[in-house]
Amino acid sequence: MAIATSSSIPYTGGLPWVGQTLDYHRNAFDFYWRVYQAHGEVSRSTLLLRSVYNLLGPDANELVLMNQAGIFSSKSAWEEVLLALFPGGLMLRDGAEHRSHRRLMQGAFNHESLQSYHQVMLGTVDCTLANWPQQQAVPFLNLVKGLTLEMATQVFMGQAPGTVANELQQDFVDMVQASVALLRLNLPFLSYGKGLAGRQRLVRYFAERVPAKRASQDRDLFARLAQAKDEAGQNFSDEDVINHMIFLMMAAHDTTTSTLTSVVRVLAENPQWQHRLREEMRALPAPLAFADLAHMPLADQVIREALRMYPPVPTIPRFASEAFEFKGHLIPARSLVALSPLVSHYQPDIWTDPHRFDPERFASHRAEDRRHRYAWIPFGGGVHKCIGMHFADNQIKLILYHLLRQYEWQLAESSRAPQIEWIPICHPRDGLPVVLRKTSHD
Ligand code: HEM
Repeated sequence: MAIATSSSIPYTGGLPWVGQTLDYHRNAFDFYWRVYQAHGEVSRSTLLLRSVYNLLGPDANELVLMNQAGIFSSKSAWEEVLLALFPGGLMLRDGAEHRSHRRLMQGAFNHESLQSYHQVMLGTVDCTLANWPQQQAVPFLNLVKGLTLEMATQVFMGQAPGTVANELQQDFVDMVQASVALLRLNLPFLSYGKGLAGRQRLVRYFAERVPAKRASQDRDLFARLAQAKDEAGQNFSDEDVINHMIFLMMAAHDTTTSTLTSVVRVLAENPQWQHRLREEMRALPAPLAFADLAHMPLADQVIREALRMYPPVPTIPRFASEAFEFKGHLIPARSLVALSPLVSHYQPDIWTDPHRFDPERFASHRAEDRRHRYAWIPFGGGVHKCIGMHFADNQIKLILYHLLRQYEWQLAESSRAPQIEWIPICHPRDGLPVVLRKTSHD
């Protein structure tokens, strides 16, 4: 079969220069599905003045994420968005350098580490949830964002609640805000300038504490990174510890918040599942032991289904350093390519009735996700697959355990069919107003 050339790759159109940037930002889900239905697995768009090759579907996910040929760079693709604010993060490294940093970081995510984080999180979650407002519509997104930030400052940084923790949290919020700013000018009244100032304060905070953390007996994530040693007995440099810490807070926070918000939404829309999960949680002992996290089969299915329907990261970009062939098309060297779970998570040839909330599709007797190893990719895949996946899963289950035992909830009248904002991280446009009510049992 003859290989087509890059010029035959369909162009998705749009305004000159701008291309389909506005469509993509307005609704990334609709954008990808229109493109996929019109042109199939390979097409080219202009997004933010750049030519981007859309590679859609599980085969594309596999080719790019597996990266057998070693030609797809995560660093070059993510740098454009993240470099000024989050330099030195794991996603901004490739090849041997990425491998050695990831190996060194792995200790902070092993079984023993996750177990110790669980103990710290147990202390925060119960009392914070007990103070959540009831019987009135409150945006769940804000509630859970506050909670996950508080948990992160304690577990990641070992910083007790109080003024310093609040200031650190604000700095992170400013940095994340800045990373999506269109106007990238370092002026103190613009969100970009505020983010850069936040970064400086955080760098100072961590820099002042690295030596003490390295010498300490602390077991928070900051201490574990500062103390980590490679085979030659070498630590991360102070600068690496600081950069990894700042990047980890960013990578961890909005993604987990997004997932919890989606889970709360689907459980409000499907009260029978809310009931089933509450029964599952009530059957587990209190306080929740780390080992019990492995005994939540229904919660597991619901979380996976929420991640399928509402993947927090809607686009995974890579930079192709060399030309490559995919499905009869030749994609030229030095191209930006984009993968999207929004397509592979909804393809009807893989998922039965894909728009339906149906957690049992993940049960072992159906295992629809096994139909293609790269169909379900909320955490990416290959060497850059999310290092915090198990941490996130544990944290989400721990919060759900407390939430379901303490409260029942429904969507507020105003939020009956919440609209989704997909970019940069999936979240309900209205913040998901819900009404919480104490359950009768707990
Ligand atoms: C439900 C929650 C989460 C989701 C959906 C998620 C999603 C992702 C995705 C899609 C990637 C791959 C990006 C790419 O290949 O370009 C990724 C990578 C990463 N995630 Fe997560 N993430 C979550 C939670 C976390 C948490 C809790 C942490 C840290 C505690 C974390 C730390 C990271 C890091 C460091 C990377 C880069 C890995 C590498 O380049 O080797 N994530 N995540």
